[in-house]
Amino acid sequence: MRIAIVTGANKGIGKAIAKSLASSGTFTQVICACRDETRGLSAGQDIQQTSDNGCDVIYLPLTIGDISSHENFYNEILERFGKCDVLVNNAGMAFKNADPTPFKQQCKPTLDVNFRGTASFTDLMMPLLRKGNDARLVNVASMSGYLSQLRSKELQERFSNENVSKEEIHALVDKFEKDVLQGTHVENGWGNSNYGISKLALIAMTKVWAREERDNGIAVNCCCPGYCDTDMTSHKGPRSPEEGAKNAVIPCLMKDPPSGQFFSNFEVAEW
Ligand SMILES: NC(=O)c1ccc[n+]([C@@H]2O[C@H](COP(=O)([O-])OP(=O)(O)OC[C@H]3O[C@@H](n4cnc5c(N)ncnc54)[C@H](OP(=O)(O)O)[C@@H]3O)[C@@H](O)[C@H]2O)c1
Repeated sequence: MRIAIVTGANKGIGKAIAKSLASSGTFTQVICACRDETRGLSAGQDIQQTSDNGCDVIYLPLTIGDISSHENFYNEILERFGKCDVLVNNAGMAFKNADPTPFKQQCKPTLDVNFRGTASFTDLMMPLLRKGNDARLVNVASMSGYLSQLRSKELQERFSNENVSKEEIHALVDKFEKDVLQGTHVENGWGNSNYGISKLALIAMTKVWAREERDNGIAVNCCCPGYCDTDMTSHKGPRSPEEGAKNAVIPCLMKDPPSGQFFSNFEVAEW
């Protein structure tokens, strides 16, 4: 029995990742973890129809950032499967450029889903990954999370320090939010993108999980799918979701995966 979970799998890149894993022949079970039941069920059925190798594809409810939803999901996986072999944290959000919500008000919701919610969900799921065989964790980040968006070299050094702790990353993200609310984030050396900082923090956290879970046999990596044709980009991205999904699927399926790496354009890339 080999189990893969993909969050935000009802559309876009997440659905393409789930589809690719289901047809890979390496899983008995693929779980589409989605917040909307109708879309989740429909995606699960679509993917099931395209996989003819006996892999069972199901939908389970999960809202990233909602702690009770995280716990319900964890309990369901524990009771039904007792483990997780592959977890792909794909669920993510971005305000559109045309969205009238002020930058300050976009900050918390973006950090809460893309970084804080994803981090707390992952920490909860880690004991199930530790029970997995040849376990993999893949975080769908973005090129927008590049380190040099930070104007301050000191901030760059703190996020990328090889001994940085989870607590320090959370504290840095809290400080970014505070600075955004006070209108001082640019003068204090941050970048000027809520989405960019949320993904930067997720990349930094990927490296911490990789370090902490190395002796537990979990390969932890992250990726940028590339600029893809999905709802998030209002379908402006030139890359298909299927092509973008490969950047997450490669570290899920490759033999002898590295750990703590950032995949972009189908290979390990610089952060
Ligand atoms: N598209 C790109 O060019 C691009 C580039 C770099 C990185 N990425 C990253 O790739 C991932 C997938 O993006 P996409 O382009 O496929 O976007 P998308 O089409 O907007 O799909 C996003 C998925 O995440 C789910 N989601 C969002 N917030 C959630 C939450 N709080 N709880 C549970 N599910 C949630 C959405 O569910 P609903 O349907 O319920 O909203 C949807 O299934 C994201 O992490 C994104 O940041 C995308």
